[in-house]
Amino acid sequence: MLIPHWINQLKDIPTPCYLVDKAQLKKNLAIFSALKRKTDCTIILALKAMSTHALFPVISTTLDGVTASSIYEARLGLEEFNGNIHVHSIAMTKNEAKQYNRMASHISFNSKRQHELFLNTNSSIHPSIGWRINPNVSSAPVEKYDPCAPYSRLGIPIGNVSSSDLKQIDGLHFHALCEQKTTPLFNILDAIESTYGDALCELKWMNWGGGHRICDPDYNIDALANKMNNWKNKYGINIIIEPGDAVIRNAGVYVSRVLDIITNEKLIAICDISPTAHMPDILEYPYRPNVMNAGPPNTAGHNYILAGNTCLAGDVVGEYSFDSPLGVNDPVIFTDMGQYTLVKTSNFNGVNQPSVGIIDEHGSIELKSTSSYFNFKERLS
Ligand SMILES: Cc1ncc(COP(=O)(O)O)c(C=O)c1O
Repeated sequence: MLIPHWINQLKDIPTPCYLVDKAQLKKNLAIFSALKRKTDCTIILALKAMSTHALFPVISTTLDGVTASSIYEARLGLEEFNGNIHVHSIAMTKNEAKQYNRMASHISFNSKRQHELFLNTNSSIHPSIGWRINPNVSSAPVEKYDPCAPYSRLGIPIGNVSSSDLKQIDGLHFHALCEQKTTPLFNILDAIESTYGDALCELKWMNWGGGHRICDPDYNIDALANKMNNWKNKYGINIIIEPGDAVIRNAGVYVSRVLDIITNEKLIAICDISPTAHMPDILEYPYRPNVMNAGPPNTAGHNYILAGNTCLAGDVVGEYSFDSPLGVNDPVIFTDMGQYTLVKTSNFNGVNQPSVGIIDEHGSIELKSTSSYFNFKERLS
């Protein structure tokens, strides 16, 4: 049985709680640091995956900045992350275009019309300008998460951007991967190269988006580094990547407690979490998270359906098997929950929001925030 070194401190922690293990985060950052040494590429954190700003001082020792999808993310990056602010907003208003012009170091437009709106709104332009293209090479495992799916609104279809168009911009951006290795990335790069060839030399930078599982043990970092160096040297461009998931991979856990155990043919442990309100990707993607010291049903002596505490009938994580019986107040720890959880929570049913804590390198938990009734009330009117 795996017992984390910080387990004894859980009795003092209000649950549900989102905890990030700084030691694991630093291991991930060391992988990015090695990639930067080999390639001199730019790596920015996709705030949409993880915006826990208490961690920004650590992350900014390695990464060069953030990529923001909205004014709030850009402002958070500016206030809390010591680095460049790249912006890719799907669509912005004139008012937002003015604010982005002040805040962004780089901006990638999702359409030529948005580029025009930006130019017409601002008399002098501050950020380096790029376009997001849709390379039209689908590889993401789930259509909902495939930016190149039919009728996608994400990026200008590659056929609508000619080689001579590249003279108008400093950079090209694409994001077309979803938790993938190098082969799908290289297929996209081949498509871009065969469309533009030497016209890519017109550019100053190219942003290869996120979705790279760089911190997985079987990810071929050398192949990525070689490809980056190859493109950098061939076209004279700076390569940028904007991972979210990979930065925090395996560093976050979600701690809940059992509130009640009921029986309806099977044992159901109702926990103080809600998949729909706290971990919506479980239902949206959908996927089955790992639970510490539990396995698939019938692999150990005690089976429980782990469920949330809202009225949504489907607010259920799934069935898990434990070595020993669960009791009320026992912790249930969901692992690898650092990405796309805290940034996606809601107060559906008025459920409490998770508290947030950092596990430092000595194993001490420092509580960073707890939510209150006022956070809930203020949002609603
Ligand atoms: C434009 C863009 N960049 C970067 C990312 C980060 O992707 P990931 O967290 O999979 O690395 C996303 C995720 O949706 C994205 O839409």
